[in-house]
Amino acid sequence: MNDTATLMNGGTVQMPPQASTIAPQVDALYYFIFWGCAAFFALIVVLSVFFVIKYRRREGVVQEPRAYHNTPLELTWTIVPTILVMIVFVWGFKGYMVASVSPANALEYNVVGKRWLWEIKDPNGASSLNEMTVPVNRPVKLILRSEDLIHSFFVPAFRIKQDVIPNRYNTLWFEATAVGDYDIFCTEYCGTGHSQMLGKVHVLDAEGWQKYLDATGGRPEDVPLEDWGRQLYTQKACVTCHSLDGSAKTGPTFKGLFGHTVTLADGSTVTADEEYIHDSIVNPKGQVVSGFEPVMPTFTGLLSPDDIDALVAFIKQQQ
Ligand code: CUA
Repeated sequence: MNDTATLMNGGTVQMPPQASTIAPQVDALYYFIFWGCAAFFALIVVLSVFFVIKYRRREGVVQEPRAYHNTPLELTWTIVPTILVMIVFVWGFKGYMVASVSPANALEYNVVGKRWLWEIKDPNGASSLNEMTVPVNRPVKLILRSEDLIHSFFVPAFRIKQDVIPNRYNTLWFEATAVGDYDIFCTEYCGTGHSQMLGKVHVLDAEGWQKYLDATGGRPEDVPLEDWGRQLYTQKACVTCHSLDGSAKTGPTFKGLFGHTVTLADGSTVTADEEYIHDSIVNPKGQVVSGFEPVMPTFTGLLSPDDIDALVAFIKQQQ
């Protein structure tokens, strides 16, 4: 999101727009610390300049240190910062507790981080990649885990961020307060595709949410397989690692793939036919192409048989 858009949506130079119940609390504490620091910075600079001038070296004046100790002054600069730090601690701890404990009536979403996409499972069982759809003004709880290494789930407009760790469930919650689309970032460096590990939270009003729940999610009858495959290519994040223009990304390009001979990591060769592409989607680590890392996650359970047919048809088209 560029600066103009951020400002237009109610953000400031420092902060993205506030779109969750917790965002105003986070910002209030942030600005307390920011302006507190700014005030002390100004005070210290002004006093430093003042004393440098007042006690500068002058002809004929022998300067000797006189004040070795000043109890009231030392008490002041110990007690005042202690009080300020305690205010920040208590305020921050209360906010942390609010952010950590989700309301009992929250909708539960499972979020799985893997190189390099977010798999998001809705409460109703639907699942999507890099797209999260939630209702406005309803608490949403996220149950986060990683399938490979440490990622971090961050939605700046909601002011929520949580590490996503293998072999461990972390939770996070938010209640969106404004309809709109908000960025999801991975904020833990996780390899080549880290900067592409992006997503969107779609916050819908009550009517839109009902429509979303009613939607089947499968291929509409009037959409040809290839076109559905093209949509899945973006929706399911194939685009992150597989180009259509012949350039190698994290994975092999789809251009000219179908029907051609592929050399695998173990030196053997296969023809990229329907079966090979199907197997590469459901069991990607089975037939790794020579020169590429075995990093693709399986898409079993994320794509229906019709979806896989659609992707095969789409890849076939990329000659
Ligand atoms: Cu996942 Cu960075």
